[in-house]
Amino acid sequence: MGGTLARRTDTVISAINMRICVVAACLLMASQATGYTMDDLCQQWSGYGYIGNPSNCHAWGYCKNQEVVAWGTCPNGLVFNAQAGSCDYANTTVCSTSAVETCSNVKSPMYVANPLNCTEYAYCDGTGQISYGDCGTGGVYSASSTKCIWGPACPQDTICRFMLSNIFVGDPNQCGNYINCVNGYGTSEKCSSTANPYYNKATGNCQSTNPCTGEDSNSGNSDQFTVGQTNATACDEEAFKAADPLTVNGESVDYRYVSDGVTCYGYYYCAAVNATGYWNQCPTGTQFNAGKCVSPASFVCTHNRCGNVNNPFMADEGCKNYTICSSGITGSCPTNAPYYDEVNNICTTKIPDYAICNSTAST
Ligand SMILES: *[C@@H]1O[C@H](CO)[C@@H](O)[C@H](O)[C@H]1NC(C)=O
Ligand SMILES: *[C@@H]1O[C@H](CO)[C@@H](O)[C@H](O)[C@H]1NC(C)=O
Ligand SMILES: *[C@@H]1O[C@H](CO)[C@@H](O)[C@H](O)[C@H]1NC(C)=O
Ligand SMILES: *[C@@H]1O[C@H](CO)[C@@H](O)[C@H](O)[C@H]1NC(C)=O
Ligand SMILES: *[C@@H]1O[C@H](CO)[C@@H](O)[C@H](O)[C@H]1NC(C)=O
Ligand SMILES: *[C@@H]1O[C@H](CO)[C@@H](O)[C@H](O)[C@H]1NC(C)=O
Repeated sequence: MGGTLARRTDTVISAINMRICVVAACLLMASQATGYTMDDLCQQWSGYGYIGNPSNCHAWGYCKNQEVVAWGTCPNGLVFNAQAGSCDYANTTVCSTSAVETCSNVKSPMYVANPLNCTEYAYCDGTGQISYGDCGTGGVYSASSTKCIWGPACPQDTICRFMLSNIFVGDPNQCGNYINCVNGYGTSEKCSSTANPYYNKATGNCQSTNPCTGEDSNSGNSDQFTVGQTNATACDEEAFKAADPLTVNGESVDYRYVSDGVTCYGYYYCAAVNATGYWNQCPTGTQFNAGKCVSPASFVCTHNRCGNVNNPFMADEGCKNYTICSSGITGSCPTNAPYYDEVNNICTTKIPDYAICNSTAST
């Protein structure tokens, strides 16, 4: 890619009206992706900048403070080059989501990974035609070496595929590890310092304490909803009025996010009063409150508080007792440290300053 193209595409991106979205609005957009969502990507990155949209090779997002704060699509059929963070010509850029699309556009012969099946690879003949090769049982295609190698993991299946080259990000599959993304590839690594063995994805640094409590896997999810599930009555007038209005670009907009009323982490997207509601869920480790996905400790959810978190225990209101998430059984801290601090996962002498501990509804 030449300097002229880079300059040109930078202009293209800055010319697009950047829409600032509230957390829930971003989540909704991201939910349309398959595999990793744009939220998943931004959550792992302490820096800021463009990322690719894992569901559409023409689309991009912008991460800041570990959230998707803007998104858009490249103009004129340009393909988003996530490693460069710019929109580039389709005839020279691999479409990260479709080998068919890559081959229909590129003008010179090349091998490309099939993002839908790592046992296969695709060959673009440079005239728009695609053909497939087979790595055989147990084999996977490695696009970086253009060779079939032995699995089990697909080398292309990393969040680096959608992220800038030469950045460090957290490993979504192994909290506390980091990945150095280089040209769309990266492997999970541990912090080398014995004094600071844990990678903190929020700061981008290795630290002494484990920052991973309460994230990175689910427990207590009911499975009664699926993302995108519709509900004809979720957006009725009462629900709509009760939900916080949203401000986008400084203007109040006419859509709302409404709790599903059943889980602590699920909500419906409502485009208008009486519109069909679409269900979605907060990122793991967070729960839904007043239009946003927030720390479970910051509000008092009266449904199963173990939903969508990775904590083995969650505080009951008042923080004198806790629920053992795996069984639902209630436990209590010893009398010499009677309060359960669910954020740090310890029993303490002083009542933690979380909304859930302030609540006295059940003691
Ligand atoms: C790619 O497409 C652009 C715009 O259509 C064109 O200017 C450029 O010459 C093409 N490059 C190749 C290698 O065909
Ligand atoms: C992936 O590709 C291989 C080789 O072409 C094929 O045998 C296999 O059935 C494919 N798997 C899926 C899930 O399509
Ligand atoms: C739709 O949502 C409303 C409000 O959350 C709820 O009372 C109702 O049971 C839901 N209906 C279905 C079919 O899930
Ligand atoms: C929403 O539906 C209710 C019941 O069908 C109806 O009374 C009300 O006028 C509707 N509101 C709007 C804004 O369409
Ligand atoms: C909850 O904690 C209180 C002490 O604060 C204790 O008396 C009670 O037995 C606990 N409840 C359960 C179900 O363990
Ligand atoms: C807890 O309650 C006290 C007194 O009502 C209040 O000052 C404090 O801000 C509350 N803390 C939280 C986290 O809600």
